[in-house]
Amino acid sequence: MGKKVLYEGKAKIMYETDNPDELLVYYKDDATAGNGAKKGTIVDKGVMNNKITAFFFDLLKKNGIDHHCLSMPSDREMVVKKLEIIPLEVVVRNIAAGSLAERLGLEEGTKMSIPIVELYYKSDELGDPMINHFHVKAMNMATDEEIHEIERQALKVNEIMRDYLKTKKITLVDFKLEFGRDKNGAVVLADEISPDNCRFWDSDTNEKLDKDRFRRDLGNVEDAYKEILRRLTGEAR
Ligand code: C5P
Repeated sequence: MGKKVLYEGKAKIMYETDNPDELLVYYKDDATAGNGAKKGTIVDKGVMNNKITAFFFDLLKKNGIDHHCLSMPSDREMVVKKLEIIPLEVVVRNIAAGSLAERLGLEEGTKMSIPIVELYYKSDELGDPMINHFHVKAMNMATDEEIHEIERQALKVNEIMRDYLKTKKITLVDFKLEFGRDKNGAVVLADEISPDNCRFWDSDTNEKLDKDRFRRDLGNVEDAYKEILRRLTGEAR
């Protein structure tokens, strides 16, 4: 086979394919937290995140949001459109948790009156610092138009996912998205949408069904990922 590795990240490996316009993403079971300070494995996470991501991408496509996924050749692999990745982590929050709760001294679980969009500069060395529109433009990461398009799509993704998840008794607390530019310069949703980069709480009990179980050593990590997949697709794994 001898596929060339383009990039190996904390949770995924990107390979070149025979098609110069496409990449192959391989979802690993490795988990990290605190920018790599904590490391571990979540059994079958790669399979579950690949399937959960494909499910959300499908849901978003049906509701008018384009994304980079083209096909799923195996349980752990996704073929995606090659994009020029914009070095931003775009976080949307409905409820205070994690770094927002800490930064503003809010009690975890405090409902925000409107969804909040935050931008972070994607840089492992710097620990993904939070930035604003001025930084994005001053560092030529994206144009005004692109920033507005990114935020429009991020808020639309929030609405679509939040409304759908409500029907599955899951509260969408917050999540992180990444975007890229396609060959025509259009802004396209990239990366993944899974319990690794979303906070999901059971709507009845507020039990955490996401990576916070790993980050905070809460136990039953695999079960939480399995439960999300089960509620979305009915699949056990
Ligand atoms: O840690 P924080 O509260 O800022 O995270 C907000 C959301 O973004 C969470 O859903 C978290 O899983 C996600 N996130 C991520 N990758 C990061 C930072 C945050 O997926 N590097």
